[in-house]
Amino acid sequence: KSLRDYNTFGIEVIASEFIKITSEVALKNVLLKKNRKEIFVISGGSNMLLTKDIDALVLHIAIPGITVTDESDDSVMISANAGENWHDFVLHCIRNDYGGLENLSLIPGYVGSAPIQNIGAYGVELKDTFVSCEAIEVLSGQKHLFSNEDCKFGYRNSIFKNDAKGKFIITKVTFRLSKKNHILNTSYGAIENALAENNISTPTIKDVSDAVIQIRKSKLPDPKEIGNSGSFFKNPVIPKDHFSELQKSHPNIPFYKVSEEKVKVPAGWLIEQSGFKGKRWGDAGVHKKQALVLVNYDNASGQEILDVSKIIQSEIKNRFNINLETEVNIIK
Ligand code: EPU
Repeated sequence: KSLRDYNTFGIEVIASEFIKITSEVALKNVLLKKNRKEIFVISGGSNMLLTKDIDALVLHIAIPGITVTDESDDSVMISANAGENWHDFVLHCIRNDYGGLENLSLIPGYVGSAPIQNIGAYGVELKDTFVSCEAIEVLSGQKHLFSNEDCKFGYRNSIFKNDAKGKFIITKVTFRLSKKNHILNTSYGAIENALAENNISTPTIKDVSDAVIQIRKSKLPDPKEIGNSGSFFKNPVIPKDHFSELQKSHPNIPFYKVSEEKVKVPAGWLIEQSGFKGKRWGDAGVHKKQALVLVNYDNASGQEILDVSKIIQSEIKNRFNINLETEVNIIK
């Protein structure tokens, strides 16, 4: 089966076997079947680059359902199953006036993969409202519950990218969201500007969501039109001394202070400075409006995108002595 419609990069690769999973019971049954092949999990396919055919049983986790599990005057616990579309879930929360996820509007992908890379945008990360997730262990078919602490969340990182990698399939994620006195996070410059432009001085969570949607639409390509997986690289964190050196030759370099010793610099800026923004090699390229996003204009192969990413990594190393790490999962 072709996986082209199951990865937002729109890469054409073939899976030797494919099953769409719509319930936890079905998932357990598949996992417990004897003599099964290797398993490859795909949910929204929004954070992976496929570079070859998949000789494995591909499980497309599409379990639907949203439930409120606990409610007080001030807050609500809400669970979404892994197959819910992330942005639809965020909109569902906003319609019900549940606050906390509005800055994470319009992020592609499904709920089930959101914890893996601790999705984040505009000053908010999933870990800020995440309570727990349920996951089925691939080898045993048993259900495990991971608390926020268990997940060891970091910048675009969690246990599911490290010790637990490939061992669990997330089936359900639970959040605690506010019902009143929402704490808004509008400090990100682009959000402040968008709200000011629309003359909004006391924003609601819907206003913040709308602002985020407006910003994302203006910079980030819609995977339905141009294949992509969002930011291809992580923003590198470098020692302060190294940053001071760079600042001498590039006084305008943007940065975020991470600690007394470390500074994070936007990879998009480094890539733009190196002249790659909008550059195209066949059907593979660097997005015109956001240099951190690699794109598949039509029929690029995963390998072609990977080759472009390597050209960029080596140029950034030469120019700035910085190693760019990929944020997207490369499937080799
Ligand atoms: N910049 C450039 N040129 C570019 C792109 C960015 O100079 O082509 C500069 C901007 O001017 C700005 C800075 O870099 O000063 C930061 O840019 P932006 O606000 O667009 O955010 P980012 O650091 O490039 C990160 C996340 C995004 C997230 C945004 C907003 C990572 C790897 N990426 O991007 O997440 O939406 O911040 O919070 O941390 C994703 O993970 O897929 C993703 C899209």
